Amino acid sequence: MTRKVALVAGGTTSKWGVYPGTLRDIISEAAKACFDSNPRIKADQIQGFIFCSVFPERSAYQSHTAPWAAECAGVKPNRIFCRVENMCGSGTVGIRTAYTAIASGLADLVMVLGAEKMFVPNPQEIMLNMLTGVDREWEGSTGLTAPVQFALAAQAHMRKYGTTEEQLALVSTKNHLNASRNPYSQFPKPCTVADVLASKPVTSPLKIFDCSSITDGGAAVILAAEELAKELTDNPVYILGTCQAASGFNYANIPDDWADWDVLNQAAQTAYKMAGIKPKDVDVAEVHDCFSISEIIEYEALGFCLKGEGGNFVASGCSDYGGQVVVNPRGGLIGCGHPLGATGVAQAVEVFRQLRNEAGERQVANAKIGLNHNLSGIAEHHVVIYGSKEVL
Ligand SMILES: CC(C)(COP(=O)(O)OP(=O)(O)OC[C@H]1O[C@@H](n2cnc3c(N)ncnc32)[C@H](O)[C@@H]1OP(=O)(O)O)[C@@H](O)C(=O)NCCC(=O)NCCS
Repeated sequence: MTRKVALVAGGTTSKWGVYPGTLRDIISEAAKACFDSNPRIKADQIQGFIFCSVFPERSAYQSHTAPWAAECAGVKPNRIFCRVENMCGSGTVGIRTAYTAIASGLADLVMVLGAEKMFVPNPQEIMLNMLTGVDREWEGSTGLTAPVQFALAAQAHMRKYGTTEEQLALVSTKNHLNASRNPYSQFPKPCTVADVLASKPVTSPLKIFDCSSITDGGAAVILAAEELAKELTDNPVYILGTCQAASGFNYANIPDDWADWDVLNQAAQTAYKMAGIKPKDVDVAEVHDCFSISEIIEYEALGFCLKGEGGNFVASGCSDYGGQVVVNPRGGLIGCGHPLGATGVAQAVEVFRQLRNEAGERQVANAKIGLNHNLSGIAEHHVVIYGSKEVL
């Protein structure tokens, strides 16, 4: 049995950045925002709870987190509950877990909640926490953190395709401008290309405005089986297709050219096929711009443009309002922030709002098909394609 599955509710904590409370408070606020978005859903109807968080053991000294977080969220799951940890992609993997449970008939109504408290008092501790996400013996011990890995990808793309630092900066200016229209974003101040180029160098060619930052935040969605979804909302947002693929973990072992993410292309093509759509059909995309170069390579690997043309794609406005596909309307990870386990869930909340015409001043006109792309490490990709009720 495979059943259709839809998003029926979604919300985020109110302001991302330094959160003035504990991880427990983030979870409670995210769950409340989600329930507030759909008053037809009562907490005692929730049958499943998937908690997405990367290092609660380190930042909140809390393990055994799925039932703990369910209690913080005010739900008592009776069909499925677990924690999902897939580094930065945890939220989307959580949504895929809920999708699988509902599609198979294991549960009818499941909450997916992502929450991360990344700011801890000691900045060195923050860096140590981030180093747990790369290969401990071969990468963490030498300081090969995410900014360095993505800088190497940027250097490869620049060498191979002539991509420029200005084109990288244009991803950042677009996403900061979009973040200025998003009330919960961490960095709502628009910036110019000159600002990006003059911002603090991190690791060549990336500057601080090319990078996502350290963020506390939370987000939650509720997924339902089709029949129940129609009872719970007049505007369900359906999952049309999804795929996940990895080509390696340790940077040195990744077979792809660092400039071309063929494994993302494979995952995307499988998801497009399942959804019965082509890349040109996507109206709005929430993609993983942990660094500006990621978004450029993702345009190519998702099939929005040809290999090597990602820099021109952003420079010609194709990924902006009025262009071919609006990419990262909530400000992306660069503008909105990147609270690891919450990011993929917040991306889904944005697509949910966009496909229901509820995104306010960020609304993409006539958005009917939305895509979420989440990345863990540098070679593990998670893709979900959503459709409004008109396209089902
Ligand atoms: C890039 C990085 C190393 C910078 O750390 P840092 O040198 O300690 O810099 P800070 O966080 O203190 O930021 C410096 C300033 O830039 C600002 N800033 C940082 N990122 C910003 C962004 N994306 N947009 C706008 N401003 C930003 C900060 O607010 C701060 O401003 P202030 O000096 O006025 O307070 C760190 O944020 C990092 O590791 N980011 C990547 C996180 C990561 O790996 N995530 C997983 C990705 S897959």
